[in-house]
Amino acid sequence: MLELTTVAKVLLYAGATVAIGEVVLPASAWPASALPAASPTVSSTGASGSSPSRRVLHIGAAIALLLAPLIWLQAQLSALDIPWPEAATLLGSGWGRNWGPLAVACAVTAVALPRLFGRLSTPLLWIGALAVGFAMGGLGHANADERWPVGARVLDALHVLAMGAWIGALVLALADDRVWPAAAAVRWRRVSRIATIAAPLAALTGVLSSLRLLGAATPAAVIASPYGRLLLAKAVIVLTILALGATQRRRVHAGETPAGNTVRLEVALALVVILLTAALTGSEPPE
Ligand code: HEM
Repeated sequence: MLELTTVAKVLLYAGATVAIGEVVLPASAWPASALPAASPTVSSTGASGSSPSRRVLHIGAAIALLLAPLIWLQAQLSALDIPWPEAATLLGSGWGRNWGPLAVACAVTAVALPRLFGRLSTPLLWIGALAVGFAMGGLGHANADERWPVGARVLDALHVLAMGAWIGALVLALADDRVWPAAAAVRWRRVSRIATIAAPLAALTGVLSSLRLLGAATPAAVIASPYGRLLLAKAVIVLTILALGATQRRRVHAGETPAGNTVRLEVALALVVILLTAALTGSEPPE
């Protein structure tokens, strides 16, 4: 049966991806001339420049970010057989001290995403998204590293932020394409610039985290473990996304827009990567 913790992680990873994507590719990035005449002008907050599909993503991500820490807490309480009235015991433990900052970071990001606070929303979103990236590792394997406690957390945060920038920008640009095809050229050039930095960084930090977690395990032990197999499956899918992305990059550089079906396939594969990662972080790396 699907574990509650896995559900919480999928919501957290998906919500964080959209939030980090919104930081690097805000709606306010589009010049007014690139928007359809009927659309409201883009304000400095970017709020009125958001396309309806983008707004749906904002609200979906905000709900996911609000629910994820609560579901994770519930899962932990059930696993330890602690009733809700005694939740303070868990919140005062080492786990709870890492859960708290993640819950606060998620809440800040969730209220900033639909831009409920006008001009304040942009700095709030920046702070919230960065904090989610850093706080996430507190509840995972990165927090259990005794050799490089700080290095492991920084690597994990960089990985989350890079994957969010890469995949989040892709998702948001695809959403805007549905309603503002006219701005496609500007949009995809910008996405391509973001992906040129974020995709290699996500891959590099992922490989370094893999080396850190697999440690001295032999290749046979890696393949024999569920953790190793999930990681290999993840790496193969990410390589496929990178290959698809490279074909679209060439199109964008040749002055064309990317093929919609290919970008949709990239996003669908990224969703599979998120599902695999939720299972990966819930299983034990081989000794
Ligand atoms: C589309 C690309 C990718 C996405 C969306 C992605 C997503 C994620 C997410 C959300 C986490 C969880 C971080 C946390 O809970 O603190 C994670 C961790 C991780 N990722 Fe990736 N990742 C990507 C690429 C890669 C690549 C290329 C590798 C290397 C093969 C990799 C290896 C890892 C490892 C080893 C971890 C830590 C797992 C653990 O704590 O047990 N990732 N990734």
